[in-house]
Amino acid sequence: MEETPTINIGLLGFGTVGQGVYRYLQELYDSEKTGYNINIARILVRDLNRPRTVDVNPALLTTNPDDVLKYRLGGKPLDVIVEVMGGINPAGVLMLEALKSGIHVVTANKAFLTYGNSQKHKLSDKEIKRMHEQNEWPKDYNSMPLFVTTFSQNVNLGFEAAVAGEIPIIEHLFRLPSTKEILGLEGIVNGTCNFILTQMERGMSYNQALKLAQEKGLAEADPSFDVDGIDASQKLALLSSMLLGTKINLSDIQCEGITKVTKSDIECANTFGYKIKHLAVVRRHSDGSIELRVGPELVKRETTFATIANESNAVALYLKERENPEIFIGNGAGAIPTASAIVSDIVEVYRTPSESRSPIYNIFTGYPEKVRLHDPKTQWYLRLQANPGVERVLRNTVLRNQFSSGVRILKGPGDLGAAFPLDHVFITSESTEAQINDVLNDPRLAPYKVIPRLKLRIKKEI
Ligand SMILES: NC(=O)c1ccc[n+]([C@@H]2O[C@H](COP(=O)([O-])OP(=O)(O)OC[C@H]3O[C@@H](n4cnc5c(N)ncnc54)[C@H](OP(=O)(O)O)[C@@H]3O)[C@@H](O)[C@H]2O)c1
Repeated sequence: MEETPTINIGLLGFGTVGQGVYRYLQELYDSEKTGYNINIARILVRDLNRPRTVDVNPALLTTNPDDVLKYRLGGKPLDVIVEVMGGINPAGVLMLEALKSGIHVVTANKAFLTYGNSQKHKLSDKEIKRMHEQNEWPKDYNSMPLFVTTFSQNVNLGFEAAVAGEIPIIEHLFRLPSTKEILGLEGIVNGTCNFILTQMERGMSYNQALKLAQEKGLAEADPSFDVDGIDASQKLALLSSMLLGTKINLSDIQCEGITKVTKSDIECANTFGYKIKHLAVVRRHSDGSIELRVGPELVKRETTFATIANESNAVALYLKERENPEIFIGNGAGAIPTASAIVSDIVEVYRTPSESRSPIYNIFTGYPEKVRLHDPKTQWYLRLQANPGVERVLRNTVLRNQFSSGVRILKGPGDLGAAFPLDHVFITSESTEAQINDVLNDPRLAPYKVIPRLKLRIKKEI
């Protein structure tokens, strides 16, 4: 029998995910299933003395990137570099160096992959040398040079773990034989936001739920990256680029977090038959405009998304001529789910010829498309701070006179009963955001001192 070939890898980073990869390979990996052994040859860390959660041979650890990137086993360089250190610097430069040396790279680093503005850069060897000396990725460079290098060096760059760890959505989008059949995608892609909103449904305040998320290791001490929607936007930038077949800039995404949602909003939504979920949405329209947004929305209580609890993720893919979306559910983050995506990428980048993956890389080497955002008509949940009488003037004066064929109030504070005395909560008929803004800015509302506290779309079931 032939000996099982071995893929020799180097890890850049040995924190939550890096140690997850180590544990996955020790406890769960099945070389008979994949046909390859995987050997961790070197590990880059920042602090050699930091306690680790796994029992690793200290001789594997180094603080010198060259000990990993230039490491040779039996006279040969490593096969795959796994970047799980995170951040822009030095992660970007190190990945570029690995690719330049003909080594495949696997990364979970959505922040780097969606970094920078729209500029297109091919880097000269002189520029790369300078970047290496300064250990810095220039601010106006995006991740494009990594993808360009995959072509020149015939290597692969895997990044399945950057989006919704356990859900193989990147690979699925890549394998669909045409992007033309894709109508859109919706996802719960940030486990921290979903965990916090789930705890608020169960009675906690936002601050209590955030504290619990931090205690469970689901939120950082500074949680803004998650709760402000940045993490979900980075994931949506990657997904929508793949889905539309053209690079989408982070700056084109309308981004909102969950910090304005209160326990009362969740209770009001529940009274009206909805839950509040933090969604990432991309959908193309026949006139070429695109919906591209991240933020909290109301979803009907009896739908699949409403049942996605705690830190779970879900992605629904809408395809032409299909009655129902394809729905994927799984763990979005955490050591082992992310490690599982990384290990499957390691095998994939090693065994797949780079020509067959070049369509993915092509997307990320092109000029970003100028996005024309679509403002769809949906119902809206509005919570307004206003003087008494605002409902009467809204219903009788503003909406009736000016928008008789447009915005209407379907439900108002009277439908909620005395349990919600604080603000004025309304559900509107299907309207664009521009129409809603027009209503809220109507001068006839001025005497009522209207301050919109929360304005959320109600997800349309397609
Ligand atoms: N955590 C998750 O559930 C998750 C899920 C999906 C994707 N990701 C992505 O995976 C990546 C890693 O996340 P993580 O949670 O594992 O991070 P982490 O726990 O903070 O670990 C980072 C590791 O990188 C090392 N490191 C950082 N900067 C370094 C430097 N300049 N030189 C050498 N080593 C350095 C650290 O070394 P020391 O240990 O010595 O400090 C540490 O081992 C990020 O891109 C993240 O977005 C994470």
